[in-house]
Order: sequence, then structure tokens, then C-alpha cells
Amino acid sequence: MSDGRDDPIRISFTLNGEPTTVEVSPSERLLDLLRYRLGLTGTKEGCAEGECGACTVYLDGLPVDSCLVPAYQVRGRLVETIESLDPEGMAHYHARGTTQCGACTPGVVMTAEWILRHRDRLETHTVRELMAGNLCRCTGYDGIIEGIEGALEDREAG
Ligand code: FES
Ligand code: FES
Repeated sequence: MSDGRDDPIRISFTLNGEPTTVEVSPSERLLDLLRYRLGLTGTKEGCAEGECGACTVYLDGLPVDSCLVPAYQVRGRLVETIESLDPEGMAHYHARGTTQCGACTPGVVMTAEWILRHRDRLETHTVRELMAGNLCRCTGYDGIIEGIEGALEDREAG
């Protein structure tokens, strides 16, 4: 007989602005819920250990590694994935020279967008420091940093 530890948990939360209700297993990761059950495949899996940032989403407005978040913990909270971002803004960011293979890109863009939105209160940190949690195995970091700094300049110029 089940001891109840694996029983599904019903949760409601806001996903990219939409009220969402699902049943999750106690061991299910937010990353798996998003990618495999809700079809939001823009969020990528890299290391699965909280090291690379490929799975970055916003939880209540803050970037988190979704591979480390149990899905049941988002009950009542706000989750945003890369699908919620303005495609025009992302195209603009890419136009500044950040071309990559793609594995790290969604996580990089999510963190970059968060920096762009909060730059005024992050002034004491460099973009390079703020991007330290997003790893890239195949492109140098200079292009990524330059792309973000360029996008910052563009936004500040209006
Ligand atoms: S897959 Fe989540 S941090 Fe690497
Ligand atoms: S991992 Fe390929 S561009 Fe970053």
C-alpha cells in the first residue's frame, strides 16, 4: 500500500501570465514540468546540477535554475520562461553580435534580460559578474558580454 509519499500534488500557479493548474509528482523538477508536460521547450537542460544556467526561468521575478526547483514549490507563485519575452527585444540583443550554438542561449537571454530590466539597482556589478552563473562551452564570453552591453546602451538611448 502507498505511504502517500509519491502521491501527485495539485498546484496552481501563474505561468507566463496565465493561471495554470497541474498535478505534479513530489520528485518532479520544474524544468521537466515546463519542458515535457507543458511544452515550453525553450528552457534547456544542460548540467542538471545548477551549474550552467541553461535552464534559467524567473520565479517571482528572479532568475533561478529550474533544474533545482521542485515543481510543487511553485504553488501560488509567478513563473516566467523565455517564451514570455518579447521576440523583438531578443532579436535586437542577437543583432548585437551574440551568435551561439544554442544550448546556452535561452539561459543567457533570460539572465541578460533580467540585468537589462534591473540595471539601475545592479550598477555596482559588471555585466560579466552578473553573467557568471551562465556557462557557455563553445563560444567565447566576450561576444555575449558585448551583446548585453550593446543592448543596454540601446535601451538607455531609448
Ligand atoms: S541545467 Fe540547470 S543549471 Fe544546468
Ligand atoms: S554552449 Fe554553445 S554557444 Fe554557448
